[in-house]
Amino acid sequence: MSTSSSVPVSASVAATVADTLLVEVAWEVCNQVGGIYTVIRSKVPATRQVWGGQYCLLGPYFPQQAQGEFEPDDEQLASSDDPFSRAVEAMRALGYSVQLGTWLVTGRPRVVLIDPFQAYPRLDALKADLWEHHGLPVPAADDLLHQVVAFGELAKVFLQLLAAETAPPQRLIAHFHEWMTGVAIPALRREQVPVHLVFTTHATLLGRYLAMNDPNFYDHLMQVDWLAEARRFNIEAAVTMERAAAHGAHVFTTVSELTVRECIYLLDRIPDAVLPNGLNIERFVALHEFQNLHQQYKAKIHEFVMAHFFQSYSFDLDKTLYLFTSGRYEYHNKGFDLTLEALARLNYRLQQSGLEGNVVMFFITKRPFTSINPQVLQNRAVLEEVRETCEAIERQVGERLFYAAAAASDDNRLPDLSTMVDDYWRLRYRRTLQSWKTNALPPVITHNLVDDQNDDILNFLRRANLVNNQHDRVKIVYHPDFVSPTSPLFGMEYGQFVRGCHLGVFPSYYEPWGYTPLECVARGVPAITSDLSGFGDYVLQNVPAHIEQGIFVVHRQEKSFDEAAEELTDMLWEFVQLNRRERIMQRNNVESSAEIFDWKNLRVYYEHAYQLALERGGFA
Ligand code: G6P
Ligand code: GLC
Repeated sequence: MSTSSSVPVSASVAATVADTLLVEVAWEVCNQVGGIYTVIRSKVPATRQVWGGQYCLLGPYFPQQAQGEFEPDDEQLASSDDPFSRAVEAMRALGYSVQLGTWLVTGRPRVVLIDPFQAYPRLDALKADLWEHHGLPVPAADDLLHQVVAFGELAKVFLQLLAAETAPPQRLIAHFHEWMTGVAIPALRREQVPVHLVFTTHATLLGRYLAMNDPNFYDHLMQVDWLAEARRFNIEAAVTMERAAAHGAHVFTTVSELTVRECIYLLDRIPDAVLPNGLNIERFVALHEFQNLHQQYKAKIHEFVMAHFFQSYSFDLDKTLYLFTSGRYEYHNKGFDLTLEALARLNYRLQQSGLEGNVVMFFITKRPFTSINPQVLQNRAVLEEVRETCEAIERQVGERLFYAAAAASDDNRLPDLSTMVDDYWRLRYRRTLQSWKTNALPPVITHNLVDDQNDDILNFLRRANLVNNQHDRVKIVYHPDFVSPTSPLFGMEYGQFVRGCHLGVFPSYYEPWGYTPLECVARGVPAITSDLSGFGDYVLQNVPAHIEQGIFVVHRQEKSFDEAAEELTDMLWEFVQLNRRERIMQRNNVESSAEIFDWKNLRVYYEHAYQLALERGGFA
């Protein structure tokens, strides 16, 4: 059972919505790639609460991806007479293949999906048009750009037909996310289609590349020559599309104040609004419920840790803290470098301190690998064998003890339990344990990487000698694949893994928003972020009591790497000194602060942007 309070829709918003249609266009509708999927998907219930049947999502149709998430409803199509269905029918009548259906996620919104490949025969002409009318260069052999150009054209056709179905006073807003869909905007403007256009960029392409390659990115931002840099990184076409979308939209927005700066200097347009990202926060009626889940999933992580470490040496799991980071493998941008440096310092402090307990730090990211390390898999299998043997012995002793107890006459003392185990199981117990123990150190990485030699995380660990020595108080598990229920190592959902951990560590150097810490907070797990992530910046400005609420912000703006690493070390140091009662209280505080980030509260930013779009764009 979960609760969610709903914020009422204001009268002025309700009046606007009454005669307006809203289409939200994103590459990640029914097609998960990264964070924009989370934005769109989690926002559905709050958006539907305001817009109801006036709302529809539009995206590219990739049958493989859409499978399992998308349900066509062609039967309803014939019977329904709303503008979206009519526009789909009109587009089909022109010979296009268009999918209309429901996205099978909470809120069940209506979606229109269009296969980009059907426009491929006209690709040359479309590219020539983009170049001639908008100066957008599209190179010959880039498949993603071709899909983007093709989808842009088809999205334009759909919106044209939808606009034709809407008669004044009814109005149409199209909200495009990211350059990949925004490429439709220039043509919609040029052809004067009566659509109020909103464009949201979730980062700038150049910003991401520059931040990855320039350690002083923020100092140099004001002097960047966008075209020269775009050419240097070979992303001129995409950057030009991003700029064209930003300039063409009636309302241009981004996700955080940090990205506003990038938009000003790299895209040359000041955003009209900032639309912070939220989640659909579902809270349990009973407070202890999420604490129980922590305990339950922590037990599953314990199993992994026993399999991974205990063949070499053991430690007290009850005094072990699980920290983790996760995200795209951007060593510098995601702050993996800073995290590793702080962990090495924490390890040293713990060794010096005489404090009890260990920290196990998980790096969950994605790198090309050839296989799971066979030794790691083998350990997992042997631990299972140990468990089965113990369970068999337990059953045998249980039955025999019960019999002995019932049959006891005047001797009520507990009999010697070891005499109740057969030789077979004794031997099997000994043999299993013999094959279990080894002198090798527990590996720091669970998989065999394609490029082990040049991996930044591994190289740091080697340099710092943070390699799971028995005396290391900070242990490392680098898992270069997402956690999933089908993974033989963790066998759990990412969200369950998060719940089982004690702290998420995300001190990014470049992060327009950054969902990972927010996903911790939503599950009642404290998190570290940075003031160079949109989320951290938002927290600093809008959540004054964030420290009490278990959200810690590392200051990286105008700080050296060393200063930031020291601040992060201090945060980790304080965290490891909390006792269990304090951790439980902190998790309660974290969980109750998640409400601030519920879309029911954050959707107002979207409503304002839509209002502004309706005021602009002079169609009567
Ligand atoms: C939850 C459970 C408690 C458990 C605690 C462990 O709060 O409800 O029963 O003792 O987790 O907390 P820890 O921070 O040590 O994992
Ligand atoms: C982009 C940004 C990320 C943000 C996401 C959703 O992927 O890099 O920081 O969380 O968009 O807005």
